[in-house]
Amino acid sequence: MSQERWSAVDRYVTDLLVPSDPALDAALAANAAAGLPAHDVSAAQGRLLEVLARMRGARRILEIGTLGGYSTIWLARGLAPGGRLVTLERDTARADVARGNLARAGLDGVVEVRVGPGLEALPALAAEDETPFDLVFVDADKESAAEYAAWALRLTAPGSAIVFDNVVRGGALADAASDDARVRGVRALHEVLAGAPGVYATTIQTVGAKGYDGFTLALVGE
Ligand code: DHB
Ligand code: MG
Repeated sequence: MSQERWSAVDRYVTDLLVPSDPALDAALAANAAAGLPAHDVSAAQGRLLEVLARMRGARRILEIGTLGGYSTIWLARGLAPGGRLVTLERDTARADVARGNLARAGLDGVVEVRVGPGLEALPALAAEDETPFDLVFVDADKESAAEYAAWALRLTAPGSAIVFDNVVRGGALADAASDDARVRGVRALHEVLAGAPGVYATTIQTVGAKGYDGFTLALVGE
């Protein structure tokens, strides 16, 4: 099996099930023009984020790691009417690209882009509003994945869902001896979830337009 085949299946699925969308296409074009890394989720993965938000009836969504806001648009499209999304981005230039993309998608009144390191923005967020988030999408630096998991658990409530992107890393997740800080980060994330009382979580390996990777889905229990 090859990348070509995985991409062909993603194209088939996307053509049938994931409606084409000028705002999303424009966001990818703006991200490329700004020189952002092509680390956006695929269209099929973005649709999954929207589906999860709709399943949850999410009124409050938190995203850690905005990049150019492509996944942000998908998540925001899944919000319940009147819902809001907060997205955290460390890099000012990336946040500016994201704000442009969100405005073009008509979401500037719905999404707040906050600039700063996640591990500084998260305590500030927790201090100012204790209303739990219904859905959290973690897609920032993998080195800090365990810390982001701990914050996500703190900022949610029973029934909330947490999704972590890029946790399989070409299979390196299974490599206990890895000296790659990102692999160690996603392994530490799994240990946090394994030790968190009442959390139902699993990790699903994926192939597709973005290669071989995977995501973790966690449901916060009582
Ligand atoms: C990487 C990060 C991402 O968020 C992604 O979707 C793909 C790759 C990375 O840091 O390698
Ligand atoms: Mg990612």
